[in-house]
Order: sequence, then C-alpha cells, then structure tokens
Amino acid sequence: MPLPTRPAAAPAPVRAVLFDVYGTLFDVYSVGLLAEKLFPDHGTALANLWRDKQIDYTRLVTTSNHGAHYRPFGDLTRAGLRYACKRLGLGLTPDSEAQLMAQYQHLAAFPETQGVLQGLKARGIVTGILSNGEPAMLQAALESAGLTHLLDHVLSVDAVRKYKTHPAAYALGEQATGLAASEIGFVSSNSWDALAATWYGYRTLWVNRHKLPFEELDTPPTHTGTSLLDVAHLLA
Ligand code: LAC
Repeated sequence: MPLPTRPAAAPAPVRAVLFDVYGTLFDVYSVGLLAEKLFPDHGTALANLWRDKQIDYTRLVTTSNHGAHYRPFGDLTRAGLRYACKRLGLGLTPDSEAQLMAQYQHLAAFPETQGVLQGLKARGIVTGILSNGEPAMLQAALESAGLTHLLDHVLSVDAVRKYKTHPAAYALGEQATGLAASEIGFVSSNSWDALAATWYGYRTLWVNRHKLPFEELDTPPTHTGTSLLDVAHLLA
C-alpha cells in the first residue's frame, strides 16, 4: 500500500535580508565613466579587467597558503587596477590611480536602494550588508549614499580575513543575526556570489540587471530579479 505523502513543510519566513555591496547596492558604472575619461576608448576594458582581477585576487589570497597572504579589499582593488593598466598598456599615474580609487568611496546607490531598505525595516525585517569591502571602505560608501541608518548590520569579511565565497565569510550573516541561513535572504547581482550563497544555505535573490546568463553549475538562485525591488520575492 503506498504511504500517504505528507505535504512539504513551508519554508521558514525570511526574517533578515543581507545585501552584497559593489554592483548590488552601489552602481559601479561611474568607475567605468571615470576610467573612460582618464583613458579614452579603454574605459570599459579597464573597468572590466580591473573588476575581474580584483575578484581574482580575493580568491587567490583566500585559497593559497592558509590565508597567509590576506590583504584588505582596498589593497587588492589597488593591485587589480595596477595589473589591469599594465596589461592594457595604460600609463597609470599616482594622480589617476588616486582618482580611480577615490571613486569607490563615492559610488551612487541604485535609485531604489533607499526605498527598499525602508520598506524592509517597516516590515520588521532585519537588514544588513555582507561584503568583501573592509569596514572603512564600506562606511565611507554608505555614509556618502546616506544609507547607514537603514542597516542593522554592516558585515565585512575582514572580520574573518577570508573572502567570499569561503563559508566563513557567509557564516558572518548567521552569527550577526542569530538566525539560521534558511531564514536569511541574501541579495547579490554577482552570479558567483548568489550561487555560493545558495550553496551555503541562504535564500537568494540574484539581481540580474544586465540580462546575463547565470552560472552553469546546476544550482539556480532561489529567485532572480532585475532590480532590488524584487526583494519582495524573498518575503512572499
Ligand atoms: C562585495 C563585492 C563582491 O561587496 O561586490 O562583496
């Protein structure tokens, strides 16, 4: 006789939402604009290679030699910029380097950011960021965008000296909120970050602003959206 099937238990409601920062809450487009101004016709190539190299270096220092070569995100960002300029044959001067690095401190938040965070707080949802950026870099960007008061947790992987996608980095969200990963929503526009957070156990929203394909590793994000407004999917 077939056993009666039990209805699947409803997932626990999401009680906290944590956001990635660069590219997710903050638009890094202005970095490309400045790069184009400083190096006409090479802005897009520079911005793309710089970003790739920055993330490449976070993985290199996290996975090599038990983390002995860890350096804060700002340092790796600078190293990535220097590499990208050398690779593209662009003469980076101390002044252009300072300008490009400073741009990271004054990024514009995506227009819906403030309203989305306010909406979450009005519903009693805990809010936070969980970023590779080091605390000083994050504080400067959040203050410049007027977002500090809307975030309950400002979590930097610098606390564990391991970059995403190391599980110790994602664990900071559970530790700070005291919630299980299954009760935490994680929002990122970086597909690799949304994938790894899904693997970790978070309920995820991948914000796909640029109609990109998701990673081909057989795990989809919990939800996909096109702006931060789609955070509503995590709460439904
Ligand atoms: C961050 C980068 C990955 O904020 O966007 O962690």
